[in-house]
Parts: sequence; C-alpha cells; structure tokens
Amino acid sequence: MKILITPSILAADFGRLQEEVASIEQHADWLQLDVMDGHFVPNLSFGAPVAKWIKTLLPLDVHLMVTNPADRIIEFAAIGAKHITFHAEVVPTTEARKALIQAIRKTGATVGIALNPDTPVQAIDDVVAEVDMVLVMSVHPGFGGQTFIGSVLPKITELRIKHPRLMIQVDGGIDTVSAVKAREAGADNLVAGSSIFSVSDRAHIISLLRG
Ligand code: DX5
Repeated sequence: MKILITPSILAADFGRLQEEVASIEQHADWLQLDVMDGHFVPNLSFGAPVAKWIKTLLPLDVHLMVTNPADRIIEFAAIGAKHITFHAEVVPTTEARKALIQAIRKTGATVGIALNPDTPVQAIDDVVAEVDMVLVMSVHPGFGGQTFIGSVLPKITELRIKHPRLMIQVDGGIDTVSAVKAREAGADNLVAGSSIFSVSDRAHIISLLRG
C-alpha cells in the first residue's frame, strides 16, 4: 500500500509561501489547505481568495473545518481543488451528507469526510461507502503543532478492517514516531505540518514519514 504524504500549508512561512511550496513539491503527494472559519474551530485561517495564489503541481486537498461546508465547495473547486473534505460533525443528517457528496463530485473533486478525535467510526456508517476518503483527526482541529492523540489508533484499524480499499487520511501531530503508529494501524495518507515545515531537509523528513 503506497503511503501518501500531504504537507499542511498551515505550518509554512506565509511570508515566503511559494518558496515553501516549492521546497516540498518534488517529494510530497498532495498539498493540504486547512480552511478554518473561527466557528467550527477556534481559529481563522484563509479562504479561496488567498489560497488561489498558491501555485503548485501537487493536487490540492481542501480540509473544510467550517460550519457551512456547502457554501465553500464551488469557490475551492474553482481554484483547482482535487479533494474536498467536510466534517461529519457539522452535517448530521444522511440526506444533507449525500447532497454535499454529490455537490463535491459534480465539481470533479473527490470526497472526504472527517471525524474529530471523539467522534466514533459508526457516526459515518450511513455514507462511508459513498466517499473516497475518511480523515481521522488525531488532534482536536484548529491548530498545528499539537500532540498526536493515540486513542484514535483503534478507529483507524476499525476503518481499515471494515473498508480495505478506503483511503484513510490521518491529520494532527504526525511526526516520525506517530507516523509509524498511524501506518501500522492502517492509514495510507498522512498529513503533516510542523514536522515538515520546521526542518530544512524536507525531502528527508517526508521519506521518513512515508516509511
Ligand atoms: C489542524 C489541522 C492540521 C494541522 C497539522 O486542525 O487540521 O492539518 O495543520 O499540523 P501538525 O502536523 O503540526 O499537527
């Protein structure tokens, strides 16, 4: 199973954003945009008007940490998002989830659904077969540089056993130690911010995270 590495741009130096993107472009697989609305999560990051200036060959992976994800789909698709992920916690009904999945697919992007650390895997039984990826948050969303929450590992294993071909992305506190645990639990897509952008040899750290 190839392990994909997805740097999270949130930890990069926004004063030198294009340089930061160039430093990982040859080594990473996707590039994650953490979109925070200061409501679903206690932090405010950036929207499409800012993100559209990021020039990269890497597929853009948009992680919507917002209360109204449906309102953001079109604008992120318009700047080239290849993957769009919304949180299960903000779209409680099956009907609304299916409508959002369809709206994302209509843009040509693939679909992910995210689970906060305390949200059980069963919470998405209604739509897991209709998404391309499940994002298991291994920190409470809102900030980079937090510590990996080990109690999410059994959720990853449960998902992997139930859905052998599902892409399982893990995000939050991923470093060379937690990456091993996440991979062994069954994750095949690792998001990392501070562990990548806090070092100078990014090719090396990315290869360590990939294993
Ligand atoms: C947090 C974000 C993560 C975060 C990752 O809410 O979803 O993508 O930026 O950063 P690290 O790897 O530093 O935990």
